[in-house]
Amino acid sequence: MKIIFYILPLFTFFIGVFMGYRTYRQEEKNKNRLVWDRIERRNIMRTINALVSAIDFKDHLTKSHSDNVKHYAVAIAAAMGLSHKEIETIAEACQVHDLGKIGVHDDILTKPGSLTEKEYREIKLHSLAGAVILKPFRFLAKVVEIVRQHHERYDGTGYPDGLSGDKISVGARIMAVADSFEAMTSKRPYRDAMSKEAAIAELKKYRGTQFDAKVVDVFLEVLENNPNLLQIVQKGEGAAE
Ligand SMILES: [Fe+2]
Ligand SMILES: [Fe+2]
Repeated sequence: MKIIFYILPLFTFFIGVFMGYRTYRQEEKNKNRLVWDRIERRNIMRTINALVSAIDFKDHLTKSHSDNVKHYAVAIAAAMGLSHKEIETIAEACQVHDLGKIGVHDDILTKPGSLTEKEYREIKLHSLAGAVILKPFRFLAKVVEIVRQHHERYDGTGYPDGLSGDKISVGARIMAVADSFEAMTSKRPYRDAMSKEAAIAELKKYRGTQFDAKVVDVFLEVLENNPNLLQIVQKGEGAAE
């Protein structure tokens, strides 16, 4: 009977050691999984970015446009106090937002004149096409959402789904402002670049209709606090990566 007094503490001790070891192994496994998820995500994003660079051969503006949109969008998101994770997602989405243009005919992408209705319909498919291409990467769900919604308008007149207000994700509302500002201030085959002042006037004009008023206000504040932002971004010297 006395033997139980020796065996019981010993048994409890070994159970404790075993449970501790199991917890340690599980934590190590989780840590490794997180590291691998990050590496995998970075590699897949690099592959997708290579695809974006491929579109650059069709339309030489796509890569620099995406880089510039990212700098503006990250500046807005940071000024709005979004979390590091949200800002990272928005940056990734900006980098690939026009990926769907890979399916648009070259002569439409680079057409010097204005587009016919049929050509415009084709170009409008690019936000949906980009989302369809990226959808199999399940960990990019939030990026896919922003890519799909980046031409939605705050008043519900955008595409592809005609979403309005807060039904459009905050990332897509930010990107809409950054994307339009970058497009307006850049030279296109069919027009010269607009001045910063003229582009700001357009943002103000469509504040609350095409664009989320709050996002426009924050961006105007960012531009006011950084008067050289446009030149810095266009020279490719933006700080955000
Ligand atoms: Fe677009
Ligand atoms: Fe764009």
